[in-house]
Parts: sequence; structure tokens; C-alpha cells
Amino acid sequence: MPIAYRNVSFVYSAGSPFESAALRGIDCAIEPGSFLALVGRTGSGKSTMVQLLNALLVPTEGEVVVDEYVNSPDKKRRTKKLKGLRKKVGYVFQFPEYQLFLDTVEKDVAYGPKNFGATPEEALKKAHEALGKVGLDSSFYERSPFALSGGEKRKVAMAGILAMEPDVLVLDEPTAGLDPEASREMIALFKEINAQGTTIVLVSHDMDLVLECATRLIVLENGKIVKDGDPSSLFEVDLESYALEEPKVFAFVDALRKLGMSISPDGISNVETLAEKIKEAKK
Ligand SMILES: Nc1ncnc2c1ncn2[C@@H]1O[C@H](COP(=O)(O)OP(=O)(O)OP(=O)(O)O)[C@@H](O)[C@H]1O
Ligand SMILES: [Mg+2]
Repeated sequence: MPIAYRNVSFVYSAGSPFESAALRGIDCAIEPGSFLALVGRTGSGKSTMVQLLNALLVPTEGEVVVDEYVNSPDKKRRTKKLKGLRKKVGYVFQFPEYQLFLDTVEKDVAYGPKNFGATPEEALKKAHEALGKVGLDSSFYERSPFALSGGEKRKVAMAGILAMEPDVLVLDEPTAGLDPEASREMIALFKEINAQGTTIVLVSHDMDLVLECATRLIVLENGKIVKDGDPSSLFEVDLESYALEEPKVFAFVDALRKLGMSISPDGISNVETLAEKIKEAKK
């Protein structure tokens, strides 16, 4: 069964003077195995939308269904035991500090698998594997996660979720604070994880990242879905009106067109596919 948002609204501090509506009537389904990107200006509701997926937040109205789990304001409908949901949907926080809490990197990453029933040895093995995947070697195992750089903290937080082997991986601004090389490695990792069958929901301001990875794109604006479709259709969208940056490869296609080259953006998702298209256009 896919993930479904059914007429979901969310209000922070409802009933108080600080009340603020973050989501308004979200309706959408997410197919298993897909790679969905969620974009939109700051404050448009992206983090709120993904935090409903593993019930970190409960909708004010409507419901979010993930397989047999129901996240609803209706206590009768709502699933009470959330441990299985938390194993199924792994959420990597926008701010990794929110996620790290143990005194060594190794313990922090092993915590999840241990919590979900792995023996200490298995948990450590999974932790080491996950740390390897994000590019942190054994010299990091005994270090304090709090003494690491922002990019390294992000990698540890990512490893902590990967170690739990979730079915759905939610990434909230996963490449923020990473240098270009680390970003590229992360992108390759996301693609690999998705190719192995994991559903990915990616929140990002990085439109090149979105174009390169996602098979579907949702644009949020003021808590509503205003676009839902193929990422390549971005070329036709007035990105500026949603405060989104144009992917660099599309800016390049634009420039080539202005120089008189007949080149279409279809199928262009990164520098490699752009180069292919240019070669074809020149023939
Ligand atoms: N804890 C909170 N209390 C009150 N209002 C909040 C809280 N968190 C978010 N909001 C408000 O809800 C709206 C949506 O916020 P959200 O964090 O989901 O946006 P976002 O799209 O993730 O933004 P960003 O790109 O800056 O991460 C914003 O208006 C924000 O100010
Ligand atoms: Mg956010």
C-alpha cells in the first residue's frame, strides 16, 4: 500500500495567540519505491509535511496513512504503538543536532538497530556498515558526535537512520553544510538506496540535486500543493514565483538556446546528460 495524505491540515499552537497554519488540505499518495522531492520557499510547510509521516507531528485535520499505520487526530483511528512506524519510516532531521545524543559516534549510530531488537554485536556491525556508506571511517567511531563539523554531524545523523534499514527514507535538506564532493557522494548513495527499493522523500532547496535524483516533484506554497509532476517539467515552471532556483543545467540549456542551438531540456538531469544532449544537437 502506498503512503497517503488525506485532506491533511496542520496548525502549530492551535487555539493560542501564536496559532499558525502550516499545511492546508494536503492530498497525495506516494508510491513505494519512488523518489519524491518536496520543494518550496522557506516556511512553505515542507518539514511539517514530512514530520507527519512518522508521527512526530499529528495532523490537526485529515490523516496520513503508511501501510497499516494511521496518523490521525481521531484517537479511535490513530495507531497507538508507533515503534513499527518509526522503524519503517526513517527521518533524517533538517538540523542534525536534534538527532544526535550519545557520547560516541559508534554508540549513537548503533542506538537505532539496538532499540529495534538487534544484539549489541549486530547493532555495532550495522553501525559500522552505515558509517562506511556515508564515508566515515573507523577513526570516527570513538569520537563525540558533538565535536564534529556540521557536515560530519549530518553524515552521522544519516548513518543513524540508515543503520535501521527503513523502507521509507525521509531526508530533510540532507546536503546542507556538505562540500561539493561530499554532496556528490551523498547523491550517489541516495540513488543507490533508492535503486535497492527504498522509497525516498527528499526535501531540498538544491534544485540541481532534485533534478538529478527525483522521479517526482511536489512544490509547496503556503501549505498547499501547487505543482505535482515530473522534475523535467521544471523547465516550464516559473521557478522564481516560488522562490526556487533554476537548476544550473537548465540555465545552461537556456543560454545555448539564446546562442541559437536547438536543444530540448527533456531527459537532462545532470552535467553528463547535458553533455550528451549537446553532442546530439551538434550532429
Ligand atoms: N514549532 C513551530 N511553532 C510554530 N510555528 C511553526 C513551528 N515550526 C514551523 N512553524 C511555522 O509553520 C510554517 C511551515 O514551517 P516548516 O518548517 O514546515 O517550513 P519549511 O518549508 O520546512 O521551511 P524551511 O525551508 O525554512 O525549512 C512556517 O510558517 C513556520 O513559521
Ligand atoms: Mg524545513
